[in-house]
Amino acid sequence: MEWEEKYEQGVIWQDFQHKQFIDNLNILLHMVTSKEKDERAFNRVANFTIQYCNNHFKTEELYMKKHAYPRIKKHTDEHNQFVQDLKKIISDKNFDNIEKASTLLNKLMSWFVQHILETDKYIAAFIKKHNLS
Ligand SMILES: [Fe+2]
Repeated sequence: MEWEEKYEQGVIWQDFQHKQFIDNLNILLHMVTSKEKDERAFNRVANFTIQYCNNHFKTEELYMKKHAYPRIKKHTDEHNQFVQDLKKIISDKNFDNIEKASTLLNKLMSWFVQHILETDKYIAAFIKKHNLS
């Protein structure tokens, strides 16, 4: 999955972090399509994803609070739900690696479409409109 210019919202830090998200998703995609059962590689991706959420969500949430962003509740709820879902997938002892990798991959892909390309674009528009970036 290639990062495309049309995905850019025009807020530098946000676009940069979203690109990192895609890089990580691609590692996972490779793992799933090549059916590599590499637990260490899976754990690296899983750890990156959790760390990414901690940093990226915190940054967005700080912006939203600081500037009284009107959709803060809905946006933050989506972040929290996503983290909960991730932790559930990652900690599931019943899945083998490749199953877990593909479940996580599906989750990241739908997050990309539903959150990064939808919900996040409203913050970007807000930041740009008020010259906050
Ligand atoms: Fe977000």
